Amino acid sequence: MRPLTPIDWPQIKESVTGLPIGSSILTYDSIESTNDLAKHYLESGSDEGLLIFAEQQTQGRGRLGRQWVSLPGLGMYFSFILRPELSPEKLPLLTLMAGLALVSTISAYCPQNTKVKWPNDVLIYGKKVCGILCELCTSGSKPGIVVGIGINVNHTQDHFPTEIKSLATSIALEKSDSINRTELLSSLILSLNREYLSLQSEGGESRLLKNWSKHTNLWGRHVSLTKAGTVYSGKATRLDSFGNLIIRDESGQETAFNGGEVSFRKDSNF
Ligand code: BTN
Repeated sequence: MRPLTPIDWPQIKESVTGLPIGSSILTYDSIESTNDLAKHYLESGSDEGLLIFAEQQTQGRGRLGRQWVSLPGLGMYFSFILRPELSPEKLPLLTLMAGLALVSTISAYCPQNTKVKWPNDVLIYGKKVCGILCELCTSGSKPGIVVGIGINVNHTQDHFPTEIKSLATSIALEKSDSINRTELLSSLILSLNREYLSLQSEGGESRLLKNWSKHTNLWGRHVSLTKAGTVYSGKATRLDSFGNLIIRDESGQETAFNGGEVSFRKDSNF
């Protein structure tokens, strides 16, 4: 693998000039959590598009209270502020929007088997390469959303904690080459802007749901969805207009889920 190089920030800033996401960018060597800092800025009234990037997080957070291990120089850990014109029940679409931008960008590196897993993961050959943590903030003067993204970029297997070694991968591991983070981040921010602008334009919501659905291998699979300690099983069939996952049980009854942890079941015979 090639030696790792620092991110070229002037190049990134130039490549996103005039676009909403990344309209201003703050970079840090090490902070507790980019989501926490972005929330602070959001509550203090910062504009949409502010992006906060850290080379290392000492208290990176994942969904469901999990930790997001954020080692220096290897991955990409960043958060940005959005203040969209979307009704509150449509806000989950922003997680799907970020997932679509990510899967499109990462597929360019690993075209074979890069998929989105509802609601917020990107997987390569079934292993997690990226996670998204969207948080709604209503406590400041103007409400908004923080979208946090963590990507395993140049990690080797040794960089992952033992308990997630079999579940996690990095782009470099799948490509067998180190990744230029400047190129990756610049195409990712462009892709996020493209999907965000598309979402807010005519027909954007149905376009997002259709395109997201093309990048998943969920449909027709027998899944278990765990939510608040209860496990639901059935076939994943589609997304509804809010981005909820529809699961059909053995009796044919369909239920819409607005959150939860999905896993594939191997004991399916229906
Ligand atoms: C998940 O899959 O559980 C979501 C992981 C999100 C991690 C990112 S890293 C940047 C941002 N800051 C955080 O503390 N978390 C998110």
